Amino acid sequence: MAPKKVVIFTDGASRGNPGPAAIGVVIQDEIGQILETISLCLGKATNNQAEYRAMIAGLEKARDIGATGVEICSDSELVVRQLSGEYKVKNASLTPLYLKTQQLCRGFTSFKVHHIPREKNSEADRLANQALDSPKQRRKPPGAPAIKSRRATQSDYPDMLSIFIELEKQHVEGVPDFFRTMSHEERVKEFDSAMADEHAVLMVAERGTEVLGYILLKIKEPEVGSMLRPRRFVKISYLCVARRFYRSGAGTALLAAAEDWAAERRIEAIDLNVWDFNRGATAFYEKMGYKTVSRRMWKHV
Ligand SMILES: CC(C)(COP(=O)(O)OP(=O)(O)OC[C@H]1O[C@@H](n2cnc3c(N)ncnc32)[C@H](O)[C@@H]1OP(=O)(O)O)[C@@H](O)C(=O)NCCC(=O)NCCS
Repeated sequence: MAPKKVVIFTDGASRGNPGPAAIGVVIQDEIGQILETISLCLGKATNNQAEYRAMIAGLEKARDIGATGVEICSDSELVVRQLSGEYKVKNASLTPLYLKTQQLCRGFTSFKVHHIPREKNSEADRLANQALDSPKQRRKPPGAPAIKSRRATQSDYPDMLSIFIELEKQHVEGVPDFFRTMSHEERVKEFDSAMADEHAVLMVAERGTEVLGYILLKIKEPEVGSMLRPRRFVKISYLCVARRFYRSGAGTALLAAAEDWAAERRIEAIDLNVWDFNRGATAFYEKMGYKTVSRRMWKHV
């Protein structure tokens, strides 16, 4: 049975502020039994960004397990006071995270946020630090800067093209009846039209000067005159990381940037398609909290 009310302990940690960051979350039922925990690396973030991301992850998990009421406990005084309306959000990088947190809170019938001392938040703190000490962090070349996302420019095209060619090959081999190999001109045209589209964005993840992957997002407006409820969402057209940077955290960083981009536009959902052969991507999206909601079927006759 779904728990009615849960207590969520959250902690965000950043080594460098900004620097490699991670979140720790513990979700308990009303009698203190642990229902869920989260321990996840974020890529580069500030302490306050990580604190918000921990809350967002905790609220999303609480929603997914069917909780109707939540109490959040955090040792970040700033974030707690911002959420309770005592402090204004002045830092632009926190605004989308604040909006996203508020939006999630509104989905519960009851919501409270408490500031607690650090020593009462030790399990969430341990989970955040466990993620920071995880093999993922250790896989980072020593001294390498953290991964960050930014809008792509035309000078990123060469890197993006070689990453796209890997994605294209993977899909042509995976579903040869459906995918084909594009020409160089077609690929560049696709980038150009995405850059010119005011309802789209191309972002890259980079570490230092190295481009690790990119994402193409498009806003989809509600369909009119069908049986569908009007629904505005962001569609992930492409998300791809260079093969040599798989499991580097680049996909996570790009997805976090996509969620911020959607939240800044007050768009509440992100949709994407994954082919059945693509088990790695499916596992990745599931890990990031995405759910399968439909199944496309076909038969060749
Ligand atoms: C899917 C993809 C974007 C993931 O990017 P990434 O940078 O490798 O992923 P991350 O390092 O951020 O992974 C985060 C977590 O997701 C999960 N994950 C990622 N790839 C996985 C895989 N192949 N198998 C199982 N779990 C995976 C893991 O839990 C991982 O954390 P861990 O490495 O600490 O265990 C990348 O593999 C890719 O570009 N694949 C080819 C293109 C593609 O399939 N795109 C999606 C098309 S819909």
